Amino acid sequence: MLELCAVDAGYGNAQALHGVSFSVGAGEAVALIGRNGAGKSTTLKALMGILPCRAGDRRFEGRSIAGLPVHRTSRLGIGYVPEDRQVFGPLTAEENLTVGARSHRPGPWTLRRVYDLFPRLAERRHARGQSLSGGEQQMLAIGRALMANPRVLLLDEPTEGLAPIIVDTLADAIAIINGEGMAVVIVEQNFAVPQRLCRRFAVMENGAVAWAGDTAAFAADRDRIDRLIGV
Ligand SMILES: Nc1ncnc2c1ncn2[C@@H]1O[C@H](COP(=O)(O)OP(=O)(O)O)[C@@H](O)[C@H]1O
Ligand SMILES: [Mg+2]
Repeated sequence: MLELCAVDAGYGNAQALHGVSFSVGAGEAVALIGRNGAGKSTTLKALMGILPCRAGDRRFEGRSIAGLPVHRTSRLGIGYVPEDRQVFGPLTAEENLTVGARSHRPGPWTLRRVYDLFPRLAERRHARGQSLSGGEQQMLAIGRALMANPRVLLLDEPTEGLAPIIVDTLADAIAIINGEGMAVVIVEQNFAVPQRLCRRFAVMENGAVAWAGDTAAFAADRDRIDRLIGV
């Protein structure tokens, strides 16, 4: 459904991605893992159109969207939860969820459904974004993305720095989201959470995809993958 084909991208004079090919199919859950600085976030920014492709192509449902700006990429049904979550601090949790509602695609995800998924957010609905814990902010960032009813959700290290019990809550929620048919790309530095959710994996190193395969190949190549992610 959404793919990068041999994409180069970077920041100023620095090239960060070297011929990256990566795809996610409708309803699929795909993991993008690798150590810090490997190029995972840059790959999501390229998928989202935040960074232009300097070479190669970006495609959605088989047609090129290489030059499509980020707001139009969103409208295709591509949701993005950045690493820093970008919660609006002065707004309440509920305002964070409903902001931008006019541009939302119609679909099953509503305020009520987000609160069903994350009951903690319902309890904290009147709290300001800045007063929420890291885990609550991550739930809020995911909930806000869901409100737009995307067809594919790009999640940049959703569990980073969070307590194990919150990691479990988020992993369960992502499984529910994907189980209802939304495609998910999950970026993590290790495979603990991706292994629970994904059947296809890509491992990045130095701005390139160093390994890609399914669950069986992943198990068979485990030593090599451990070296790539520096376990
Ligand atoms: N805003 C930026 N400006 C310049 N270089 C950047 C920027 N963001 C990332 N980089 C560089 O791009 C490379 C890939 O970074 P990134 O995609 O953030 O890696 P990851 O998400 O896997 O940790 C790194 O060498 C990093 O230093
Ligand atoms: Mg990153």
